[in-house]
Amino acid sequence: MEYTTLGQTGMEVSRICLGCMSFGTPDWREWVLDEAESQPIIERAIDLGINFFDTANMYSEGESERIVGNALEGRRDEMVVATKGYFQMDDDDPNSGGLSRKAIEQELDASRERLGMDTIDLYQIHRWDEDTPIEQTMRALDDAVRREKVRYLGASSMWTHQFAEALHTSERLGLDQFLTMQNHYSLLYREEEREMLPYCQKQDIGVIPWSPLARGYLARPHEEFDATTRGESDDYAKEHPYFEGNGQEINERVQELADQKDATMAQIALSWVLHKDWVDAPIVGTTSVEHLEDAVAALDISLSDSDIEWLEEPYEPVSVSGHE
Ligand SMILES: NC(=O)c1ccc[n+]([C@@H]2O[C@H](COP(=O)([O-])OP(=O)(O)OC[C@H]3O[C@@H](n4cnc5c(N)ncnc54)[C@H](OP(=O)(O)O)[C@@H]3O)[C@@H](O)[C@H]2O)c1
Repeated sequence: MEYTTLGQTGMEVSRICLGCMSFGTPDWREWVLDEAESQPIIERAIDLGINFFDTANMYSEGESERIVGNALEGRRDEMVVATKGYFQMDDDDPNSGGLSRKAIEQELDASRERLGMDTIDLYQIHRWDEDTPIEQTMRALDDAVRREKVRYLGASSMWTHQFAEALHTSERLGLDQFLTMQNHYSLLYREEEREMLPYCQKQDIGVIPWSPLARGYLARPHEEFDATTRGESDDYAKEHPYFEGNGQEINERVQELADQKDATMAQIALSWVLHKDWVDAPIVGTTSVEHLEDAVAALDISLSDSDIEWLEEPYEPVSVSGHE
């Protein structure tokens, strides 16, 4: 396993982060594994040297955090666990979502309880909250650090101007600031290259992209996208602009390069993300040990500058996706 220093956190994390949205209960999404099925994947990840796990309070309505907490019990100190809050957790309680002090304090405590962790390594805001002043959010998050409930703070998909405002606010008020950005980035979604990624690079922000395989679309030939339970039932994959622009041509080029290099499509698509200097660790989601092993082996694949140019060449701007 390769490790990298995650931005200014100083923490060493594996260059593959295991995305835990696929662990929880199939009652939430058809393609999600239950605890017994998730356990061997988390175990294998640890065997392979993965020490970085990403979950969120909303994944399977808390069940993902509970499974991750159980699976890591006894070795949590060696692991870097990231979770997120923002989305409303209880339909009947509007204060169970958003980034008010009340929501952050209550939802963070609920996440700590489910994870079985007094201190969460990385706590991320899942989205921007238009209804709460950023000063209040940053003060509540800073207090969580002071109270040793959280070690580091991070953010997820938003506009760059919002992220910059958050960083300036914490700097102005002398508060702990966001040290990581979890954003949507893959060969099929490169809109983040315009502003967010150069900004993160300049600020030495750790970058941990989500859906680096375009929710599976970059891991198999175009015409087979619907061939898995997730491909068939994941409405969010269809909402993302993977099929806009020249998505199909990029999919075909990934396939062609995979054949040339005797690699899988997933390995080529992940290797492309791993070759980007502004990326620390892509967050990979999988429901199979074999696919997890495949993802880790992507670290051994080398792409030349001309391979990278060729993969990138058909890309055309697509609709913004991941935030509004
Ligand atoms: N911050 C946010 O807003 C946000 C949004 C989305 C996701 N996330 C995070 O990012 C993580 C990953 O996201 P994701 O699952 O949407 O995207 P992803 O990693 O791009 O794609 C996962 C899909 O790719 C398939 N796959 C993975 N490795 C493969 C391989 N070697 N060969 C063939 N297929 C392969 C998986 O199928 P199998 O299950 O069959 O392996 C799964 O259907 C999540 O778990 C979550 O932690 C964050």
